[in-house]
Amino acid sequence: KPCILLGVPVQEGTGRLGCDMGPSAFRTAGLAGALRDLGYMVEDRGNLAPGPTRDLTHTNGAIKFLPEIVAWTKTIAQAAYEASGEGIPIFLGGDHSLSAGSMTGLSRRAAEDDHPLFVLWLDSHPDFHTLDTTQSGNLHGVPMAYATGRGGFDGYFPANPVPIRPENVCMMGIRSVDNAERAALATAGVTIHDMRAIDENGVVTLLKAFLKRVAAANGRLHVSLDVDFIDPNIAPGVGTTVPGGATFREAHLIMEILHDSGLVTSLDLVELNPFLDERGRTALLMVDLVASLMGRRVLDRPTRSF
Ligand code: ARG
Ligand code: MN
Ligand code: MN
Ligand code: MN
Repeated sequence: KPCILLGVPVQEGTGRLGCDMGPSAFRTAGLAGALRDLGYMVEDRGNLAPGPTRDLTHTNGAIKFLPEIVAWTKTIAQAAYEASGEGIPIFLGGDHSLSAGSMTGLSRRAAEDDHPLFVLWLDSHPDFHTLDTTQSGNLHGVPMAYATGRGGFDGYFPANPVPIRPENVCMMGIRSVDNAERAALATAGVTIHDMRAIDENGVVTLLKAFLKRVAAANGRLHVSLDVDFIDPNIAPGVGTTVPGGATFREAHLIMEILHDSGLVTSLDLVELNPFLDERGRTALLMVDLVASLMGRRVLDRPTRSF
């Protein structure tokens, strides 16, 4: 199956400018070449553009760029639905609001093909706010709530025909959670491995337990990788740095195990802000992580060893 690159230069979901340059930085850092070196056909479909906006007002006056993010979400969901019928879609963000579109489009496709969609969410944040609870008003803080069918999006965001079951979501790397998110997550059914859980158990045990569940359900696995999952000392090119993130080896090990599982069918690469990067090091690290996820390895090992 070909890798289908879809640039999504959305930046209105974050509090600052620069994520619109993310797709270019991923291309400049050699993403397509790295995938071709691994033997994949790569189809770069260029950048998506949002459709027309319509006026929308919400009682939560903090919300920023609601019409723009809604327009993007529609476009991205349709692109995700189409591309996932043809290959392995890789979304080059753009801020994390893009996952509102990717996850809902992918979930619709998976349901039509009779597979449940699972999501591995690699992020320092759960992005589990609703339109009513976000205090920053930055809509990169809401995609997981929307994709799992939490209330309050109707009439604003596009209808989400196949909400992802919260039980099918596993978050790793979490270390910045707002009060409203913490309260909602307490009963949501999402599996959350915060940094403490990673410190205490290591990534291997936690990840393999989740992959077993995906395999047992004959599920498809979408990976949503936010740059701020990784420690800011090695990944500075992101607007929302949070100290104490995943190390170089933890991040690569997750990718290598994911590859061995053979379960990953789509990927989001989000929140890269090239304006904040240092000589492209964050973009290059992300490309290397994708290469590990897609099969680059040091030595041959027996696969599907999870
Ligand atoms: N929880 C915070 C907020 O809602 C931070 C969200 C950061 N999200 C992200 N995708 N970087 O504003
Ligand atoms: Mn995020
Ligand atoms: Mn099938
Ligand atoms: Mn984040």
